[in-house]
Amino acid sequence: MERTLVMIKPDGIERNLIGKVISIFEEKGLKVIALKKVKLSKEQAKAFYIVHKDRPFYESLTDYMSSGPVVAMVLEGENAIKRVREIMGATDPKEAEEGTIRKLFGLNKEKNTVHGSDSPESAYKEINFFFSEFELISAE
Ligand code: CDP
Ligand code: MG
Repeated sequence: MERTLVMIKPDGIERNLIGKVISIFEEKGLKVIALKKVKLSKEQAKAFYIVHKDRPFYESLTDYMSSGPVVAMVLEGENAIKRVREIMGATDPKEAEEGTIRKLFGLNKEKNTVHGSDSPESAYKEINFFFSEFELISAE
């Protein structure tokens, strides 16, 4: 069993896609074990994406991610990290495979509707960024 952190980004919230996005993960058998809607400050967005601090898109990304609310959730399942990345699709919706969330809903490379942790290390850090241990209600 593995846990991963997923965020529905402001473009998804704005277009009322919370239910649709969660449905896609649930239909694939992943369990929502924690869930909250929050609005990140610019500083919080910068902290969340600190690994990208030297990338040219860092300023724009963190402006965007603090521009409106996001929904953060922890999904649990076998190989959850890799499976969520597959279900999301490539970063750029134009390059994402048919049926993936980013292909279905992504607007562009930045406003690509969802975030998912990319490794066990980042999943651990990102889950702890949003949730404390008592907020994780495991399905097991
Ligand atoms: O989210 P993912 O792991 O697929 O991509 P990333 O390389 O970790 O980048 C994090 C986020 O930065 C992306 O999801 C995009 O929202 C944004 N980004 C961007 O705006 N322009 C890029 N060239 C690359 C990423
Ligand atoms: Mg990433």
